[in-house]
Amino acid sequence: EQDILAQLPLKGKEVLITAGPTYEAIDPVRFIGNHSSGKMGFELAIAAANLGANVTLVTGPTHLTIDHSLINVVPVVSAQDMFEAAHSYFKTSHIVICAAAVADYKPKYVAENKIKKNDATLTLELEKTKDVLASLGEIKQQQFLVGFALETNNEVENAKSKLKRKNLDLIVLNSLNDKGAGFKLETNKISLIFKNERLKNFPLKSKTEVAIDILNEIIPFIHA
Ligand code: CTP
Ligand code: CA
Repeated sequence: EQDILAQLPLKGKEVLITAGPTYEAIDPVRFIGNHSSGKMGFELAIAAANLGANVTLVTGPTHLTIDHSLINVVPVVSAQDMFEAAHSYFKTSHIVICAAAVADYKPKYVAENKIKKNDATLTLELEKTKDVLASLGEIKQQQFLVGFALETNNEVENAKSKLKRKNLDLIVLNSLNDKGAGFKLETNKISLIFKNERLKNFPLKSKTEVAIDILNEIIPFIHA
């Protein structure tokens, strides 16, 4: 007979997930954003909750909604908001998965009033945002920390260096080479790279199935 607990392997565990894009304000009516749908992070949240976890889902702007008693949705807008929200839940988390497509740069100055189209050209000065994932890696204790990597070339090497640089336990490499994987789509083809550099490739699957695959790979580390 199967132990009921074995069917809810994340019962009582706290899982923190970041999802979606961030919007970086230019002026009161404009922003810099990206095409992330938030789908991968939302699917991870649902999969973790279905495994019994208490989930905090820190999400940038998305049309997606979730109504699940084990998922606490924390909406944010900018990279700075996501940084603050993620840090406020980090300490008590057992698993942290950063699936958000955080803006790498934001306008250095946010115009107080709507910018008028006075001139033929407009130059925006941008500065780096805070790296949420890297900042969590710096203060990591018991947390199993997972990042994503989107690469177009030298995929595995670049992902490995991100894994090391950000002090991760696992990185999910999203393959762009395959049609049918990535932003705005319902499917993803991933490879997982663990801290010990073990590489595991997965076939093209729905994001729902990909989320389950990722969590199944994490579970043994949580119970170890
Ligand atoms: N990430 C983050 N905060 C940022 C930028 C990235 O938390 N400001 C996280 C993403 O959620 C993802 C991982 O870092 O889990 C890698 O994101 P990616 O864009 O692939 O890498 P970057 O470190 O931003 O480097 P680059 O875009 O130059 O490849
Ligand atoms: Ca980036």
